[in-house]
Amino acid sequence: MKPNTLPFLCNPVTHEPLRLVVKPGPEGSSQETLVSVKSGEEFPIRDGIPIFLRDTDVSGSNKKYQELYNHIAPFYDVSMKIAAFLKSGGEEKRRTEYLQQLDIKAGDRVLEVSVGTGGNLRYLPRTAKYFGLDLSWGMLKRCQKNLKARGMETELFLGAAEYLPFDDEAFDVVFHMGGINFFSDKARAIQEMIRVARPSTKLMIVDENEQVAKKLERTPVAGKFYGNRTEMISAPVDLVPAGMHEIKVRDVCNGDLYCLTFRKPQAEGAHRREPALTQRPTWHSTPALQGFGVI
Ligand SMILES: C[S@@+](CC[C@H](N)C(=O)[O-])C[C@H]1O[C@@H](n2cnc3c(N)ncnc32)[C@H](O)[C@@H]1O
Repeated sequence: MKPNTLPFLCNPVTHEPLRLVVKPGPEGSSQETLVSVKSGEEFPIRDGIPIFLRDTDVSGSNKKYQELYNHIAPFYDVSMKIAAFLKSGGEEKRRTEYLQQLDIKAGDRVLEVSVGTGGNLRYLPRTAKYFGLDLSWGMLKRCQKNLKARGMETELFLGAAEYLPFDDEAFDVVFHMGGINFFSDKARAIQEMIRVARPSTKLMIVDENEQVAKKLERTPVAGKFYGNRTEMISAPVDLVPAGMHEIKVRDVCNGDLYCLTFRKPQAEGAHRREPALTQRPTWHSTPALQGFGVI
């Protein structure tokens, strides 16, 4: 983690500031940890990735998808490549169709919530600074490898979209692609994306439409995850808080995906935001991270 990232990180639940503590590790190594200044809660940094999520923090739908993505991480890039080639004439064409909606200027701080293996980042201008958060350690490690191979410097974080470990208004651009349909708490995730965006920022949320989910639920592997849905998939326009401007939904990539965009207003307090909590919410335990040696 770069030292100039620390000032805009915070405890994802209480929003306390953090300080970096370096402790001696085994065989002359050192272990970096982020420590909450008031409560003393610790978040280790492993392989350069701050870990803002514990086994006990993930439950419900998030747990199911965390396990799925940890398992499919090694095959994700190749399957995306094949799917994009068959459906939309290649990954670059497919991804740039929605990425072109973003307003990225040189020097901007850009956050992708659910960065996955970093598939979107390679099609964005190199003149900005990129930050990616994801629930899956397997996807993040793959992302780190991909970014290194591309010579891209991006800061990665293990965390949940519903509890972002960033200060209010820390980013010039905030976007999400591909996971929100099945987040445990979509409304909270959207409010968090708005909280960490600067006033006037255009936010973008992209995910699969119902027609794609219908096709996937008939396939053997994906069917396990897309079947038994309790509600039809649609762009979460109803979860965009009152006060946002320029709310637009368009279908992209041959109608496979919805692309919801809106702008955070200039005026402070023009939207409802989730208050910081004084303690962690009660979530159920999962062994999902254990296989990856995270915790
Ligand atoms: C289909 S992948 C998309 C990855 C990337 N955005 C892309 O376009 O290739 C969905 C990603 O969402 C992540 N995810 C699912 N639920 C999440 C949550 N609650 N918070 C953060 N990330 C989540 C998964 O781990 C996975 O990496």
